[in-house]
Amino acid sequence: MAIRNIVYVPEPVLRKKAHKITTFDKDLNELIEDMIETLRAAPGVGLAAPQVGISQQLIVIEYAENEEQKPKLYVVINPDITKPSEEKEIGVEACLSIPGIAGEVDRHLSLTVKGLNRFGKPIKIKASGWLARIFQHEIDHLEGVLFTDRATRVWRPSPEEMAEIPD
Ligand code: NI
Repeated sequence: MAIRNIVYVPEPVLRKKAHKITTFDKDLNELIEDMIETLRAAPGVGLAAPQVGISQQLIVIEYAENEEQKPKLYVVINPDITKPSEEKEIGVEACLSIPGIAGEVDRHLSLTVKGLNRFGKPIKIKASGWLARIFQHEIDHLEGVLFTDRATRVWRPSPEEMAEIPD
């Protein structure tokens, strides 16, 4: 396993539509393990493959609903959002590829994510609140969309404020 380099704006790979994954082999598994390690080292709550320079439809998320809970790891390949709630909520986001910037983004409150696991088996995840927000942020990366595109307000928070914002 290895920590990969995170790429930053304006790196062109962040603006490309990522390719669907069709081969579930050793190389993919290595990429997944590397992305998990990179996410933990950052540290962050979500990472999409284009953020390590790989234009493929793969996201990893590690997030705990609350402090008592152990963080849960999600690895989703070729993810698709279904059943987005009509109800939306504004929340503050940041991104490992856009250091030092925060923004307010309106996101669906709940949704279902369909995709494949690392073995190519179909999976379905129901998410709401912050987890739903993280999925929307990471899946946007696979379309070349950044949170600053959707933000109604962006600013440079103080380091203390930044530490409070999951990215
Ligand atoms: Ni991001």
